[in-house]
Amino acid sequence: MINSKIITIERFLKETQPSYARGDLTAVLYDLAFAAKIIAAETRKAGLLDIVGFAGNVNVQGEEQRKLDVFSDQVIVQINDHTGRLCAMVSEEQEDFIPIPEKYAKGSYILVYDPLDGSTNIDTNISIGTIFGIYRTLDEANPGTLEDCLQPGKDLVAAGYILYGTSTMLVYSAGKGVHGFTLDPEWGEFILSHENIRFPEKPSYFSFNHGSVKRWPQGMSQYVEWLRNLKEPVLSQRYIGSMVADFHRNMIYGGVFGYPAEATKPDGKIRLLYEAAPLAFLAEQAGGYGSDGRQSLLEIKPTDIHQRVPVFIGNRDLVEKVEEFITG
Ligand code: AHG
Ligand code: MN
Ligand code: MN
Repeated sequence: MINSKIITIERFLKETQPSYARGDLTAVLYDLAFAAKIIAAETRKAGLLDIVGFAGNVNVQGEEQRKLDVFSDQVIVQINDHTGRLCAMVSEEQEDFIPIPEKYAKGSYILVYDPLDGSTNIDTNISIGTIFGIYRTLDEANPGTLEDCLQPGKDLVAAGYILYGTSTMLVYSAGKGVHGFTLDPEWGEFILSHENIRFPEKPSYFSFNHGSVKRWPQGMSQYVEWLRNLKEPVLSQRYIGSMVADFHRNMIYGGVFGYPAEATKPDGKIRLLYEAAPLAFLAEQAGGYGSDGRQSLLEIKPTDIHQRVPVFIGNRDLVEKVEEFITG
């Protein structure tokens, strides 16, 4: 007998998605859950198989791709290109947006994703993730153009991530709260484990790469000093270097993650479309906030699918404070 309190991701999606979204959007989310199982299975074997290490190519960001980046990208494309639910995709690992092949039907949704986030952590067995966002096409009559892909985060229909950590979790929001599912490795199914996640009022952590302190913009060091001097609550510093994992921990325990602009990286490192905007959407759905230091990340309309943006994301008051220091 299965306990009736065990809610699978499929059941949760069916029961909670509004009727207008119960068709294709629900199915896209379920397709991503399937992709997550395949990527999770491969990451579990990363230390065993000859899958670790560089694939030999350099991606559009000029970074060396790891084999799991390429694998994860291909899994997501192959699961989503023929379903008739999408009209375009954007991947961190592909220079141009990915059109749906002529031979397949086109749908109304655009999927943007970072197939593996935190990939420098793979070889050392540290948590990594996949980030995704889903937009609706701007023009049903002519779907799947570059313009369809360049939408601001405030127009996201849904967003989420998969975290390959001590367990595999899928966390998503379709605009009605943030919900987390944990993959039961024996059943091979995502089970509802974290319904309606909210940033706790009292934060616990701040998360920045302090190795970059000398290259930070004006106000950043003072902001971090302000964080260090907080008395109630006293904050600890944690930084994994996989934004998904840093974001997830901070959403569960409260805190702020940041990747500021640097003297050598004037727009920071994080990509707006498929890293910053989806997490900012989740943050707002969980009672938090995402900013570039001046304005909401959700307000920024990308002009390039791979554009970078400074990121501050977490408990609303901590992120609003960094805006004061930076614009101050
Ligand atoms: P990706 O692996 O997709 O290129 O992203 C890595 C990003 C992000 O996940 C993380 O927060 C950041 O790089 C860490 O960068 P530093 O090592 O410069 O701190
Ligand atoms: Mn990334
Ligand atoms: Mn990546």
